[in-house]
Amino acid sequence: MAISTRLLKEFYSHKKMDPLFIIEKFYTPGTKSYQILVEHSQIVTEKSLEIAKTLTHLTPDFNFIKKAAMLHDIGIYLTRADSIGCNGEVPYICHGYLGRMLLDEQGLPPEYGLVCERHTGAGITKENIISNGLPLPQRDMVPISLEEKIVCVADKYHSKNQKNADKKITTIQIIKELERINKDHAKRFSVWAQEFKL
Ligand SMILES: [Fe+2]
Repeated sequence: MAISTRLLKEFYSHKKMDPLFIIEKFYTPGTKSYQILVEHSQIVTEKSLEIAKTLTHLTPDFNFIKKAAMLHDIGIYLTRADSIGCNGEVPYICHGYLGRMLLDEQGLPPEYGLVCERHTGAGITKENIISNGLPLPQRDMVPISLEEKIVCVADKYHSKNQKNADKKITTIQIIKELERINKDHAKRFSVWAQEFKL
């Protein structure tokens, strides 16, 4: 029986928003990068939802968080990070804004790409990018929406590095690590961790 064009369109628009369907356009199941990306993204999604459940008074968008958290690191394969199976050309720090470009090109609503772009560090300010000569477009990349903040924060509690993947990371450890990189990162994260009672 012929499938109607309408049904095909509906099926495709549903698939278009399925995180694994999107991930598998860029990653091959069974490879190291796929396995690390999907496992990490699932853990970050769970943590994001756990945080969101404590913030129902702020009406977080659970459905959006589920998908955006799964996609937040989609840009990693374009970077040079051998230990996680990524053999791209550019520094790892670029994976956020490159992930945004990928999702925008896939035709996803812009909010998804913004979660990618704004999750690295505790967000990165334009001033930080300029003063440290970071290889990033010169614009503010700091989480603004509640959902962006939640995914950014949740991401810090799990490491993709296989040596540390099973270790429980505490809020204090994250703040200390961020302080080492940049004091403003640590300050921003601390404020959100307090707001989210972490
Ligand atoms: Fe991540």
